[in-house]
Amino acid sequence: MRRYNVTTFGCQMNAHDSERIKGMLEELGLGEAPRLEDADLIVFNTCTIREKAESRLAAHLGLAKALKDADPGRLLAVGGCFAEVQREHLFEQFPQVDFAFGPGSIAELGEWLKAERNGARGSFGSGGERRFAAELPFRRERPFQAWVQVSMGCNSVCSYCIVPTVRGKQISRPAEKVLAEVRALAADGVREITLLGQNVNSYGRDLPAAERVTFAELLRSCDRVDGVERIRFTSPHPKDFRSDLIAAMAECESVCEHAHLPAQSGSSRILKAMRRTYDRERFLSLAAEMRERIPDLALTTDLIVGFPGETGEDFEQTLSLVEQAAFDGAYTFVYSPRYDTEAASLPDQVPEEVKRERIERLIELVQSIAGERNRARIGSTEQVLVEGPSRTDETLLRGRTRRNTTVNFAGTAKAGELAEVRVENATSTTLRGAQVVSSPA
Ligand code: 5AD
Ligand code: SF4
Repeated sequence: MRRYNVTTFGCQMNAHDSERIKGMLEELGLGEAPRLEDADLIVFNTCTIREKAESRLAAHLGLAKALKDADPGRLLAVGGCFAEVQREHLFEQFPQVDFAFGPGSIAELGEWLKAERNGARGSFGSGGERRFAAELPFRRERPFQAWVQVSMGCNSVCSYCIVPTVRGKQISRPAEKVLAEVRALAADGVREITLLGQNVNSYGRDLPAAERVTFAELLRSCDRVDGVERIRFTSPHPKDFRSDLIAAMAECESVCEHAHLPAQSGSSRILKAMRRTYDRERFLSLAAEMRERIPDLALTTDLIVGFPGETGEDFEQTLSLVEQAAFDGAYTFVYSPRYDTEAASLPDQVPEEVKRERIERLIELVQSIAGERNRARIGSTEQVLVEGPSRTDETLLRGRTRRNTTVNFAGTAKAGELAEVRVENATSTTLRGAQVVSSPA
């Protein structure tokens, strides 16, 4: 039996795609090799959102080349977003690659493997009609958690972002297919699902009128499926976060009290240049409405510093947005110019050292506010879905609260179980606690 190894870069959509790649390869009779060195087929599922993702990939491609030089019988396939943008140059730049495929043509990897014995190397997946990875078999990393893809692509035109170019226009999966998958997962013992889309809350707009379902309606239907105890979704766009969705979050018991709502900047001027279609005030009033209607909500975000033309004053506005929205956590990024995006050719690119200095100040503020918000949980009892042993201390268990905070705790619960944990301590990113075992009456 031949063996494969898949390395995943980038976002949760890529992680989901990788589960489908693995499922497909296993259906073709390949087994997983835990180490790259032992694989007959090496697959890199790549990302191109920022330059950093690419430098990490370059190191991996170098390693794969050395492995192929030692054993030319090995195959190297490169999929995902970097493969897609580099379509024209990939094989020139990296002659060690045998096959490449974009995020919309994962199934073609399987088709190529079946045909490969005929010697067709150095080819790119046809890139014909885009197909949902979700239609392929999958191999889940955890039996009790699953991603469910609701759409692919993105219709936004954020000026810094390469995703719409790479993953194309939004295509929504018919609600019936999404729900059938959720029901099957529930029957299979899955307790937590995360609905995935590049712009998850604009789900449904591209469906034919007769089948059109809003994201809020889809969320309510998922909530009605028995057995699924937690529903999450990522990533929404603030522009499409309407009252109907806030109401669905507030009213559906299984929808978790967490929203990841990417703000990107706190300056209305920069938001406009980013083409985010909301301004600072609209974002803050949305955040306030969400906090008011969803008790105990955790709000996390993405922020970019050093967008072209960002002045010291614009950056101060981002700092003050973080304070006003009181984010429970944030992913912070230094702006990275991407091929053929509008922002890459804007004048006034911000010097690297200014970006560095800004990101450091931003991280410090984010951590201090997140730490404060986490410390406010001390003394409360939280429902935790147990994921396994703690990464830092084997004597403890690890899991996540409904608010999506990681908790390390002393207890006896098993992976996949829901435990009640009393919070005793907190950092800016994690909680520490002990399982509460109710004594028999
Ligand atoms: N530079 C820096 N960060 C970016 N992101 C997207 N494109 C870029 C870029 N060119 C960030 C955004 C987005 C997250 C997934 O990555 O904050 O929400
Ligand atoms: Fe990029 Fe904007 Fe689409 Fe998110 S919504 S993937 S930031 S274009």
